[in-house]
Amino acid sequence: MTKGIILSGGWGTRLRPLTCTIPKTLIPIVNKPVIERQILLLKEAGVKEVVLAVSVMSDIIESYFKHGEKLGVNIKYTQEKYPRGTAGAIKLAEEFLKDDNFFMLNGDVILNFNFGEMLKQHNKTQCLGTIASKIVDDPSPYGVLFVDKGTNRLLKFLEKDEYHPPNGKIIPMPINAGVYILEPEIFSYIEPNKKVSIEREVFPKLAEKSKLYHYPIKGIWSDIGKPYELLTGNILLMKDLIRNLKGQIKNLVDDSADIHPKTIIYSPCVIGANVVIRENCKIGPNVVIGDNVFIDSGSVLKNCLIYNETYVSKQVSIETAIVSDNCNIKKDAVLKGNNENLVILSSYVEVLDNVELIAPPSISLNICHHEVVKESMK
Ligand code: GDD
Ligand code: MG
Repeated sequence: MTKGIILSGGWGTRLRPLTCTIPKTLIPIVNKPVIERQILLLKEAGVKEVVLAVSVMSDIIESYFKHGEKLGVNIKYTQEKYPRGTAGAIKLAEEFLKDDNFFMLNGDVILNFNFGEMLKQHNKTQCLGTIASKIVDDPSPYGVLFVDKGTNRLLKFLEKDEYHPPNGKIIPMPINAGVYILEPEIFSYIEPNKKVSIEREVFPKLAEKSKLYHYPIKGIWSDIGKPYELLTGNILLMKDLIRNLKGQIKNLVDDSADIHPKTIIYSPCVIGANVVIRENCKIGPNVVIGDNVFIDSGSVLKNCLIYNETYVSKQVSIETAIVSDNCNIKKDAVLKGNNENLVILSSYVEVLDNVELIAPPSISLNICHHEVVKESMK
């Protein structure tokens, strides 16, 4: 029976200050932790048992998923005393995974595609490993795949800084999407009790031996390495989820949300459970609001993510921003990012009346958890 392993270690430093209080793999993606969405995709493909390879903030991850009772999937954990690298982490779960092929996922990618189709291709080719791929305009931050277009066989695998584009010219290439199906034979290529990288030490060798294939993803893939990607990835998935409903529905609004009739929602938006939005607000486009959020009258939200339990007072303006859980944004406050530079509030931040937080032209404006912001920053 095909099982799954999700890599849930790593500090998520590039997502700070959000990851100071939330482990990277529990960051909400359209109101569900990124790995919860992955587990649900595995379940759709028939996977019943998943192991989470945890290290940093493992207690928070374990107390969220427990043994998988809520999701209807059996969840186990391997705990690393020190980071073992991507291959070392799965080697620790060898006993659990040795009987059949298994999915291996990087726990920091937003996905929405049919895992069952990938498994079908893997079984047909009878190869040692199948790597999901996506063509991106600039492959430099990723592992790059050189493929045989006719057969989908992998000719070469180069991890990020090992790839140098021809004549320094960046061209679109298929990249490693961080989703694999592997046969248990993979374990014979990983030395035990050592830190080993699957991308640097295992895949290049196997590609040379013609043991790998790639599976071009027909659906959503997005990395959440940086906050801007987190925002655009949420919007991408939100649009996909709404499109897949195939009806006249333009927003995903929980039945329990209480939205004043004099408030306007510009689609697409997602609004979570027990949200209250008072009169004369303008919400959207491209807004994801979590559960138990209160938004008072006259506030304007555009192109932003608001996590659970946050309070937004009257006439607040939020644009191109990520607001984490339990924040308190007071009257007439302004949060405004620009292009790729966001305003980011970590958990439990309080922004006082009339304070304006405007991101400078070239970097994001980050506020650490539990801070009380009394003065404007522009
Ligand atoms: N348990 C555990 N232990 N997990 C780890 C460890 C470790 O020692 N090291 C990394 N991980 C987890 C991270 O939490 C993440 O979910 C995943 O493995 C990939 O690590 P990243 O540090 O995020 O790597 P990356 O994003 O720079 O590159 C990887 O992902 C790209 C796709 O997003 C590579 O696999 C690239 O080839 C790939 O293109
Ligand atoms: Mg990553």
